[in-house]
Amino acid sequence: MDLRVVCAVLLPLFAFTYAEQVKFVDCGSVAGTVVQVEISPCPNQPCQLHKGESYSVNVTFNSGVVSQTSKAVVYGWLVGVKVPFPIPIDDGCKCGIQCPIQQQKRYSYINQLPVKTEYPSIKLVVQWELREDSEKDLFCIKFPVQIVS
Ligand SMILES: *[C@@H]1O[C@H](CO)[C@@H](O)[C@H](O)[C@H]1NC(C)=O
Repeated sequence: MDLRVVCAVLLPLFAFTYAEQVKFVDCGSVAGTVVQVEISPCPNQPCQLHKGESYSVNVTFNSGVVSQTSKAVVYGWLVGVKVPFPIPIDDGCKCGIQCPIQQQKRYSYINQLPVKTEYPSIKLVVQWELREDSEKDLFCIKFPVQIVS
């Protein structure tokens, strides 16, 4: 089974179980407008992310542009330092978004946030961006999380 299947098919199954609308800060969605952000499971905010587990992220946004592609970029902010966060699949077109992206249409980007066991137990802010053809952000969101054992 390749990772694409995990991204497109399996994740929505558990996304329905405990999906919580989370508070976020918009960090410059110039090519779109964020409607809602859901993370599951996340019964209390800030979301507690247990090491070795994976969390689904569902970002619903309205596109302001036409784009053939979409690429996700994730960072963690650790005491003011921006650290790249690897995600299994960065192609948004394989994660719930039907490409090409049309203008004035609503999309839900679905992906997972795997929490590696070697991550430290800290609070941090996750910055999640989805970029269109010319690297402008369809969305840029920031939300706090707490990594726990
Ligand atoms: C993602 O969120 C949108 C808006 O709440 C919802 O309509 C959609 O069903 C969600 N998708 C999944 C897979 O949870």
